[in-house]
Amino acid sequence: MEKSEQKRNDPRGSPEYVKNPHVAAMKEDILYHLNLGTGTHDLPAMFGDVKFVCTGGSPTRMKEFIEYIAVVLGMEDPKSEYPNICEGTDRFAMYKVGPVVSISHGMGVPSIAIMLHEVIKLLHHAGCTDVTIIRIGTSGGLGVEPGTVVITKQALDGKFQPKMEQIILGKTVERSTELDQGLAEELLQCSKELNQFQTVTGNTICTMDFYEGQARLDGAFCSYTEKDKQEYLHKAKEAGVCNIEMEATAVAAMCNLSGLRAAVVCVTLLDRLKGDQVTSSHEVLQKFQQSPQILVGHYIKKQLKAKAVQG
Ligand code: URA
Repeated sequence: MEKSEQKRNDPRGSPEYVKNPHVAAMKEDILYHLNLGTGTHDLPAMFGDVKFVCTGGSPTRMKEFIEYIAVVLGMEDPKSEYPNICEGTDRFAMYKVGPVVSISHGMGVPSIAIMLHEVIKLLHHAGCTDVTIIRIGTSGGLGVEPGTVVITKQALDGKFQPKMEQIILGKTVERSTELDQGLAEELLQCSKELNQFQTVTGNTICTMDFYEGQARLDGAFCSYTEKDKQEYLHKAKEAGVCNIEMEATAVAAMCNLSGLRAAVVCVTLLDRLKGDQVTSSHEVLQKFQQSPQILVGHYIKKQLKAKAVQG
């Protein structure tokens, strides 16, 4: 493939989203889990215009999102073809319409962290600037009606601490999980404008598992009582927590390190103060899952309109 102007490793053209001196020294960078690479793909030509990366757990949901965003932005493909850019690997699925990338992240911090390492490098190699990353996902609510959308103020670990701990070279490294408060407010304002579903801002606990990590009583193992569970969840509520999920700290910590604007927007599927099992029908859950997409679609459209006016 004939390469367009390759901005890779060119400090003049790229914001420093990547904070790794080794990357600049690499002759070629294979983004293994995306099935993309600097030696095989013209990343500036493919991705240089990207301004928004939206990510959610499931490949199907992220395909639906790109189809939706194409309609919202008036960029529908007449043949309705939205090819999976990561075809050739089934780790992640990626779609793109105009300046919006939609990519699945799988379940949990390890999965989303791998995707983010490679997407952040992709943005760097493509010479992208002014990029916003938004997770649009699902979660368990805390004292809110199922179907409520929670925009994360602070991403907390299971001890209600605003940090992500990772073992690197055998040592525990702590990373701050501050999120962009201005972006969270802008998203809340978008929800007010839409007036279609209940939306709140609040803290989000990110856990390493769906069952014991989230104080469920219905896993294969459980060594605590309903009373212990309620005590933990009520303490969380007192710490300003509105929902629990499994990826927010990774999004916050990694985007923080990169200098990328980031937000986490999750719908709640159930109220964890009332139960553990997700009992709503498939139709109801489908409808719930559309709310973060509608909200973020509105935000992106508004941002692009504002930029067009500014010229
Ligand atoms: N996702 C989670 O991580 N927890 C829930 O309770 C629901 C969705």
